[in-house]
Amino acid sequence: MTNAGTAVSMYERIGGAPTIERLVESFYARMDTLPEARTIRAMHAADLGPVKDVLKRYLGEWMGGPKLYSAERGHPRLRQRHLGFPIGNEERDAWLSCMRGALDETVADRGARAEIYELLARLADWMRNREDIPHDARNAR
Ligand code: HEM
Repeated sequence: MTNAGTAVSMYERIGGAPTIERLVESFYARMDTLPEARTIRAMHAADLGPVKDVLKRYLGEWMGGPKLYSAERGHPRLRQRHLGFPIGNEERDAWLSCMRGALDETVADRGARAEIYELLARLADWMRNREDIPHDARNAR
């Protein structure tokens, strides 16, 4: 997430590492328990520890914090990394439902929350890879 024209990154705006930590914990706690997230939970390993760690690094960097994700994993190539998991509208909605709840719970700044959600919703949309979903790969970011 870029922050052109502003002095403060989104990362700083929401409270840095402790907020990212709480956000990701809440996100996966929801994925672990919400009935509508059962399908996407099943795509993940039994132990969510490692992926929690990766998502914390990723989101921190994405919001303008320390580059902990790319230092370890290189370019995100997120869509490519998700190709092994069948993601359609239902899976996207389940992911976003977990994320919305987690944002509401852990990010106090309502404006920041809305901005983050909107951008993540676009990313989640882009992550869909089922054959029945038309995508124009040339518009990929
Ligand atoms: C749209 C629905 C989505 C589903 C169903 C989904 C599912 C998954 C699954 C199953 C994994 C692998 C977990 C493992 O290794 O055990 C994963 C990894 C990951 N996901 Fe998603 N994901 C979705 C959207 C997103 C979005 C929108 C983001 C961006 C914030 C994201 C960020 C990541 C990251 C950073 C990883 C780790 C990638 C790596 O290995 O470097 N995912 N996801």
